[in-house]
Amino acid sequence: MKGLILSGGKGTRLYPLTYTKAKQLIPVANKPVLVRVIEAIRDAGITEIGIVTGDTEPEIREAIGRGGRWGVEVTYIPQPQPLGLAHAVKISADFLGDDKFVMFLGDNVIEGGISPLIEEFAHSDWNSQIVLTRIENPQQYGVVELNDKGDIIRLVEKPKEPPSDLALVGIYMFDNHIMRAVNEIAPSARGELEITDAIQWLVTNGYKVRPYIHRGWWIDTGRPDDMLEANDYALEELEHVVDGYVDRDSSVDKRVTIEKGAEVINSVVRGPSIIGRGSRIINSYVGPFTSIYHNVTIENSEIEHSMVLENSVVRDIQGRIQDSLIGRNAVVESSPTKPKTHKLTLGDYSSIGIL
Ligand code: DAU
Repeated sequence: MKGLILSGGKGTRLYPLTYTKAKQLIPVANKPVLVRVIEAIRDAGITEIGIVTGDTEPEIREAIGRGGRWGVEVTYIPQPQPLGLAHAVKISADFLGDDKFVMFLGDNVIEGGISPLIEEFAHSDWNSQIVLTRIENPQQYGVVELNDKGDIIRLVEKPKEPPSDLALVGIYMFDNHIMRAVNEIAPSARGELEITDAIQWLVTNGYKVRPYIHRGWWIDTGRPDDMLEANDYALEELEHVVDGYVDRDSSVDKRVTIEKGAEVINSVVRGPSIIGRGSRIINSYVGPFTSIYHNVTIENSEIEHSMVLENSVVRDIQGRIQDSLIGRNAVVESSPTKPKTHKLTLGDYSSIGIL
């Protein structure tokens, strides 16, 4: 079997974080979402992985390279325009050949332990296996209707009136019949070749599509709040270790990970949380469900339930920062000059809450 990861498209809903950064590279519990996907595929015993890329290909290549670090071999498949998930499959025909494959959306984060499902498909005679989960707002997803026996009746993409609460999670398994399907379907109302329509084509034409209902957590990291939620779950799953330095005046509980080269000085860190390589926490409080990525400084401040990306600084802040997503190379500090005002330099599409 092969793996196909879709990392094209534009992360407009995560602006401004994704102006310069591929959304698939944003770290969740300090591990980029795309790396989580690569590891999930590798854990199912698959080593040949194709990554479909768009405008952000150079930075994805820089972060992932040829995949050797994860024991896989990566082939890049450029998609000139984000014309749909089925279009991404279509342009991957040469890479996929006649092999069965598992396709992951590069921006979805799912609870660990999906590998047995992939292995089961590899040894089955099903033409496709799709992963579903029950959700409250299925209008924003591909939705599947099942009959009493659990067989698929139909699939619809982003229906105004969903026929069920079963959404398609961004993990799909196919054999080579999907190639016929993606060549037969027409673009949807939003102008994309929908994978949902291609799967419907398989069902209509009598191919075996097996629905699997996933009961653990799953997050489509489309918006900042989703990122924080995925971060919460991933921090809870983490096995915590202290590889960095914690001084005697600090208190760090068991559910905290301190990466190599990180320092905690005269501070309190409560887990689940993670402090990344080269980061420094000085005279501060870092509360539960917080991920501090690489080379960040938190000084004389309090922060909880937040994510701070690389090379950023939070210094001398009165009151606690909470529920926040702070991008790369950002500086958040109190202004020493009078009058006491809020002095801001914010990127386009930024969003802040001031008391
Ligand atoms: O998240 C699950 C949902 O993903 C499913 O329930 C839907 O049925 C499916 O259509 C898809 O919906 P989205 O509208 O959320 O997909 P999005 O445009 O966000 O793209 C998902 C990923 O695929 C993202 O990492 C970008 C990549 N992509 C997207 C398109 C349209 C590509 O690589 N190429 C593309 O042409």
